[in-house]
Amino acid sequence: MYVARTLDELAAGIASLGPGLALVPTMGALHAGHLSLLEAAQHGGAPVAASIFVNPTQFNQSDDLARYPRDESADLELLRQAGCDLAWLPSVQTMYPAGDEIRIVPQGAALGWEGDVRPGHFSGVATVVTKLLNQVSPQRAYFGEKDWQQLQVIRSVVDALFMPVAIIGVPTLREPDGLAMSSRNRFLGEQERERAPALYRCLSRLAQAILDGDEVDVCLATAREDLTLRGFSVEYLALVDGGSLHPAAELMPGARLLAAARLGSVRLLDNLEVVLPGGPRRTGL
Ligand code: PAJ
Repeated sequence: MYVARTLDELAAGIASLGPGLALVPTMGALHAGHLSLLEAAQHGGAPVAASIFVNPTQFNQSDDLARYPRDESADLELLRQAGCDLAWLPSVQTMYPAGDEIRIVPQGAALGWEGDVRPGHFSGVATVVTKLLNQVSPQRAYFGEKDWQQLQVIRSVVDALFMPVAIIGVPTLREPDGLAMSSRNRFLGEQERERAPALYRCLSRLAQAILDGDEVDVCLATAREDLTLRGFSVEYLALVDGGSLHPAAELMPGARLLAAARLGSVRLLDNLEVVLPGGPRRTGL
């Protein structure tokens, strides 16, 4: 695996791999969920680059940049074992040579939900992803459905700026008990870890109740209460149109449940499509 830390090294690595690269952007602290993106990228047949960059501009005051887990040598070992071709590890200076001077400020799908709870977050994400895509010039870039809103924001940026890259969404990888894999799960205490899968169970039950024709508002209110009783502090739990992220008052094709809830100090994010019987699953592809 070629490890690049400067733009010159990146250019040399890309040149040695040839055209048609696939890119998997990450912030490191890699887990099986990240590796599933790598695997999806490898299925495409092209050489695969993964970036590791803890992007300061997407953290706001309530997020703790300093607390974000970092383990570069373990990450590189995982990437090597997974058969990654190129690891791109830029410094903050390389990514932001002029400081935080130029920003992309996405609207549309970036408004509401995570956009409300974490002001400026999607601007940081859109800016760094645009920089990474411009540096690496991949043919395809892979993102997790785990961060559904992020995936829609990135799609909208790439479309709006006519960037020549295909954005591929990859389904959420879960622990056997249903908890969506996340770098933050390591911060859950023993009791919190036991409680955490209730979020996905709740989304699954909620999807079924909505499919059964129960009133959406009532189902959502019951689910919020249920999560609160189980010790979650619910930030949002909503049914939305999966593309626009607008709230959906009733079931429609592509409708998706979005949730963010805290267990202790750990924020858990999850989402689930409410699949209409006979309807196609929206894969984010
Ligand atoms: P990070 O949280 O490291 O996630 C990197 C990618 O892995 C994202 O596309 C995320 O959706 C995906 N991912 C995380 N957990 C997953 C799971 N359980 N199943 C499938 N995919 C999963 O998201 C970011 O970094 C950053 O915002 C980034 C896009 C790299 C920009 O800085």
